[in-house]
Amino acid sequence: MIDELLRKHRLVSDQVDPRELKVILREFLRVLENDIDGDAVELGCYKGTTSLFLARILEKYNASVGHFSSRDRLFGRQKGERDLPVTTGEMSVSSEKNDTEKTYRKLYLYDSFAGLPEKTTPDNSRVGDNFKAGELAATKSELIRNFKKENLTLPIIKKAWFKDLTDSDMPNKIAFAFFDGDFYESIRDSFRVTAPQFAPHVTIVIDDYQNEALPGAARATDEWLRQNSTRVKNFRVEQSLGIIYLK
Ligand SMILES: C[S@@+](CC[C@H](N)C(=O)[O-])C[C@H]1O[C@@H](n2cnc3c(N)ncnc32)[C@H](O)[C@@H]1O
Repeated sequence: MIDELLRKHRLVSDQVDPRELKVILREFLRVLENDIDGDAVELGCYKGTTSLFLARILEKYNASVGHFSSRDRLFGRQKGERDLPVTTGEMSVSSEKNDTEKTYRKLYLYDSFAGLPEKTTPDNSRVGDNFKAGELAATKSELIRNFKKENLTLPIIKKAWFKDLTDSDMPNKIAFAFFDGDFYESIRDSFRVTAPQFAPHVTIVIDDYQNEALPGAARATDEWLRQNSTRVKNFRVEQSLGIIYLK
């Protein structure tokens, strides 16, 4: 399904590498296939390059609610066909729920829509001083236009600096989180504002974890991992992405 989506739809910006997008979508799909309960959040959505693909996957999932099992629908199988094991990496698979227990999932997007904030000391990099305050500013209306053009259900969009977000801006339960705020404080604040709502078995993907030009992303992630080591089931790095699986 992911390959097909990537073939069919163009990327609306160069802010995501297609190979990395594939990993992000694979992780998201796995959360849905394993019925990890909760919604999806993206902090640092820009014009929606990644969000549009998350929304496309979600539309397919939500269309399956109350009909077939999510896995059958996502894999295009008929009801009753053999249920192949889902490749879960390190994640344990929860038992599949009855269709009646499944709920619609929502996508929540957050951005300043004023571009990047100021860098702080942990963002200083040996490889130069790219990424300045105010860069990567998209407008909320541009993001909405991109969703409308594709006939996708509008996500919940919140314009704010991450540091100002509160519990009431978050879904009650987060099953999948994508952090793409580039800088130390942006990633640190992303963890701070979302962690209270993390569902059991949540997956968190952090962009630029392995990017010399943006060392703050790894610093903030490593700090959170150290402080929350008892909650972490597994952490791994794939391409530039850090991927955390919680217990
Ligand atoms: C690399 S772009 C995100 C790209 C996006 N994920 C995509 O797929 O197109 C980084 C975004 O994070 C936002 N951002 C970074 N730090 C932020 C903060 N502390 N609060 C709010 N927005 C922030 C910027 O405005 C920018 O749009």
